[in-house]
Amino acid sequence: MGERIIVAGGAGYIGSHVCVSLLDAGYSLMVIDNFANSHPESLSRVRQISGVNDPDRLTLVEADFARPEDRARIIDAICSFRPAGAIHLAGLKAVGESVAEPARYYATNINATFGLIEGLEAAGARQLVFSSSATVYGDLNANPISEAGRTGPTNPYGHTKLMIEQMLTDLTRADERWRVCNLRYFNPVGAHPSGLIGEDPNDIPNNLFPFIAQVAVGRRETLQIYGDDYPTPDGTGVRDYIHVCDLARGHLRALEFLSDGANGGAHVFNLGTGIGYSVKQVRDAFAVAAGRAIASQIAPRRHGDVAENYADAHLAAEKLNWTAEKTLAEMCADHWRWQSQNPNGFAG
Ligand code: UFG
Repeated sequence: MGERIIVAGGAGYIGSHVCVSLLDAGYSLMVIDNFANSHPESLSRVRQISGVNDPDRLTLVEADFARPEDRARIIDAICSFRPAGAIHLAGLKAVGESVAEPARYYATNINATFGLIEGLEAAGARQLVFSSSATVYGDLNANPISEAGRTGPTNPYGHTKLMIEQMLTDLTRADERWRVCNLRYFNPVGAHPSGLIGEDPNDIPNNLFPFIAQVAVGRRETLQIYGDDYPTPDGTGVRDYIHVCDLARGHLRALEFLSDGANGGAHVFNLGTGIGYSVKQVRDAFAVAAGRAIASQIAPRRHGDVAENYADAHLAAEKLNWTAEKTLAEMCADHWRWQSQNPNGFAG
């Protein structure tokens, strides 16, 4: 049996894909999730995709790091699992909501991290891969963005990501047994090619791909394109979209990297493709994948958006031996398969 890994937030969109990657690579997992923005069904689907029926390969602790009454139970569960380390994806992630409810964002995201650190300390498992975000670069206008670029989040969600990166880095400075990878995701999209797991937003989607997918499936009328007067080739915003399965594989490589004795300390890696696509390019690629037109109209710019944002992904290629492989067409085809097979997400 392979190593044992905690996946905090493992039932969520990215977490469920990470679970599939790790199970396929032979790891045994303990998922800790409170299902605040996820569904237990996603873990049943993970089992189905991976063909893992042995409960010891994938166990679930339904608990909330932020609830004091859950804390001891989580720490006991982590200790009895005897993990080698953890992947930390537990947290709230909506930019706009974080502006409206900053206290909830700081309390939830920071407390989840404290709880996980406490559990890992108690279990003597000091390897952690953290789900950070390119949002830590804020409005840095220096594309492609490298890890050396200055940070400066522009919203509370981004601040929590940067604060957690700092906390974890400080742990590695205080105690050399700690090893950390902070993974700065660009724009995760797509779904597992099986169509069994994918992103299942609770409300009206904020992000481009889920919104387009809901227009394509008939749940929404029209895509609003937020601005067509940016200094980009077609005037619409440009982003570095990365297939969630490529992203998940990046976590596997980060775990392998940390378990190599030579790689102590804290490390930061961008996970992106290095290629930027505009809103119109994405709309058109999705229309091809779905075999239907996506109705759209130009709307004013969205407050806080930047014109262009894409990664310099060389460091991950060099150190993690990882590069994104899937094309925009595959991102759209896989996202569409998930959406069309599950028009209402996991709720059925
Ligand atoms: N867009 C539209 N219409 C929509 C939604 C989005 O035109 O309905 C545009 C945006 O203006 C932007 C692009 O599509 O140009 C991508 O927008 P997303 O909301 O999908 O993604 P963002 O780049 O704004 O933000 C994402 C995540 C954040 C994360 C950030 C990291 O949502 O959590 O990437 O850079 F912090």
